[in-house]
Order: sequence, then structure tokens, then C-alpha cells
Amino acid sequence: MSSAIYLDNHATTPLDPRVLEAMLPYLTEHFGNPSSNHLFGWVAREAVEKAREEVAALVNATPEEIIFTGGATESNNLALLGAARALADRGRHIVSYVTEHKAVLDPFKVLAGEGFDVTLLPVERDGLHDLGLLERSLRPDTVLVSVMAANNEIGVLAPLEEIGALCAERGIVLHTDAAQALGKIPVDVRRTRVALASFSAHKVYGPRGVGALFVRRRPRVPLQPLVHGGGHERGLRSGTLNTPGIVGFGAACRIAAEEMASEAQRVRALRDRFLQAILQRVPDAVLNGHPERRLPGSLNLSFPGVEGESILTHLGDVAVSSSSACTSSLRQPSHVLKALGLSDEMAYAALRFGIGRFNTEDDIVRAAERVGNAVSALRELGRASASSA
Ligand SMILES: Cc1ncc(COP(=O)(O)O)c(C=O)c1O
Repeated sequence: MSSAIYLDNHATTPLDPRVLEAMLPYLTEHFGNPSSNHLFGWVAREAVEKAREEVAALVNATPEEIIFTGGATESNNLALLGAARALADRGRHIVSYVTEHKAVLDPFKVLAGEGFDVTLLPVERDGLHDLGLLERSLRPDTVLVSVMAANNEIGVLAPLEEIGALCAERGIVLHTDAAQALGKIPVDVRRTRVALASFSAHKVYGPRGVGALFVRRRPRVPLQPLVHGGGHERGLRSGTLNTPGIVGFGAACRIAAEEMASEAQRVRALRDRFLQAILQRVPDAVLNGHPERRLPGSLNLSFPGVEGESILTHLGDVAVSSSSACTSSLRQPSHVLKALGLSDEMAYAALRFGIGRFNTEDDIVRAAERVGNAVSALRELGRASASSA
């Protein structure tokens, strides 16, 4: 894998060696259960609480507001099912967007089945959110709004502060899925006035299988737990805590807090250079999503006349994605790209590139060359088969 080029950092990120180093003692000598009342337990508990502080610090929360979970999918389920069910007496209208991750859209489907009235708003052609449209959709019985901070397919950012103000004025609980935003751009739960925010460690150079949910304390957000048992995590998520994973998540957040600004600059420069290099080779490639209001490492491009899946098979050891990893086993055009108004053909012609912490200038140059060659080869094949038909 040494020469392989990984440009799929939206799907998951490699573990930072510094994170691994922080985790190792908790996989070996410090194996205690953080709930145990003896030396082994105390050591593990102390590490969990330090990690809680590190995660909280990155998003401007207090440690008591951080609940550890098994990842952003679980955090989204706990936030949406938990809040909607707890708020059902107040109202049954809930709002989100068609471009959300399935880990939000599917809990919304569950809630629709339970009698909630669901509004899924469209986005504009560049993936931006129309605040007027959101405002007009809010009703006296609206109890919950969910908006992802950054989109996992096109990287487009939501105007969370403005949406937070709209919701706060009306006493509506605002949830954000910030799995892609954490550690890439500033996420501030106070400035945005979100009530609930979902995070995942493996999108920020931490381990897979651990995440967190920010649950605002003042004013308190009512939340019904999904997992019942020993009453861990303030009764919101029972189950023995994953100490090594949580320690890794904490370390990943500490590193992100220290390095986010300089890393974002470096990654953005690499991404822009990559785009230029691609456009030199494939001048008719089309950028999907807003050119500026997006994550530093995100690039989603359609290559007219060729399928993203076919390009993938020509890329060899360059790892990119033809749509979001979670849905790419389904042979359907991306629901996000369709929501931007792309034809099926242009949606199938898309590739998602995610540039991250460990990518180098050399990766970018080599990957752009491979993509350019693959597109040319496929177009040549297409022309040859058309002329022989
Ligand atoms: C926006 C978004 N939300 C949620 C998830 C799911 O996160 P996890 O893998 O931690 O469950 C992902 C990852 O694919 C994501 O990109």
C-alpha cells in the first residue's frame, strides 16, 4: 500500500500515529472498566474524563455536555429519535434537508412512521441553503430542525449561525450532524446555538467505532435514550465505555485544535492545485457544489461522457469514491447530486475527492495524471465503440 494514494478522506481518515500512541496503554496495561471503583477503574475513568474535556474544548462545549457514543450514526439516531420523542407533546413537525446523510434521513423516516410530520427542504443548485425557505417552513408546532454542518459528498457548508438564530428565536431544538466538519473547520456550539451536535472520531484521524453527541445543558434539551442498561453517560447511553477509542478521540481532537488552522490552509492549497491539474487535462470537468463555501479538502467533479465507476476501475492504486461510501453499494445516482439538479448522466459521471492531513504534493500530481489518463482512455473507448457500432 506504500505507493497507493488515499484521496477518500470523507469516507474515513487514517489513524494519526500520535493518536495510536495515546491509545496503546489503554488497550494493554490500563484495561480497567471506567465504572469500576478500584485503581484500574480510576485510571481508565481519568483518561475518559480527560478525553471528554478535549472533545468539548474543540467545539466550545463543557465536558458535561459531551456523551460518548459508537459514532456519528448512533449520535444522529440518539439526537433525532431521542429529542423528537421527548418533544412530541409540544409538537410533531420536524424539518431537515434532502441532502442530509442517510444517518439523518433514515431516523426521519422512522419518525414519519411514528406520526411525525416531516418536511425535507431542497437546496439550491450549488448546495447552499435558502434561509427564507427554511424560515417559511417553520410552524408553531415545529419542534426539531436538523442541518448538517458540512455535506459529506460535496463539502458544502451550512450557515449554522443564521439557522441557529432562527431556531433559538422560536424555541426549536436545532441538531447538526458535524461529522465532516469537526476538526476541518471551526465548530462552535455556543456561537451557532445548536442544541445537539453529532461527531465521529474516524473522520478526524481517530479510531472507528467511537463518536460523541453534544447535548446542551442550559436550556436543557429533553432527550429519550435509545440504549438502556447501566445508566452510563448520564443515562443517555448505557454500556461499558470504549476507553481506548475514547482516549483516541480525545487525542485526535487535541491535535485538531492545535493544527486545524494551518492544516486547512495547506489542504485547501493542495485541493486547488489538484483542481487546476485536473482542469488542464479534462477542461470540461464540472465542479459540483459551491466553489468557496465548502470544506478545505473537498472536491466533487463530474466528467461528462464517462461514468465515475468506470474511472475508478482505471485508477488502480488511487483511492477515491464515486459517491458516498455508505450508499455506493446501491446502484443509484447520488441523492445529493440529484438534489442539486444534476441529470442522472452527470450524477453517474461524478467522483468525490477528499484531500487530508497525510496527502502530499506528489500525491496530487500523480492522482491528477491518473484521473486525466483514465478519462481520456474511457472517452477514446467510447468513441471507438460508437464508430464501430
Ligand atoms: C455526514 C456524516 N454523518 C454521519 C456519518 C456516519 O458516521 P459514523 O461512521 O461515525 O457512524 C458519516 C460518515 O459516513 C457522515 O459523513
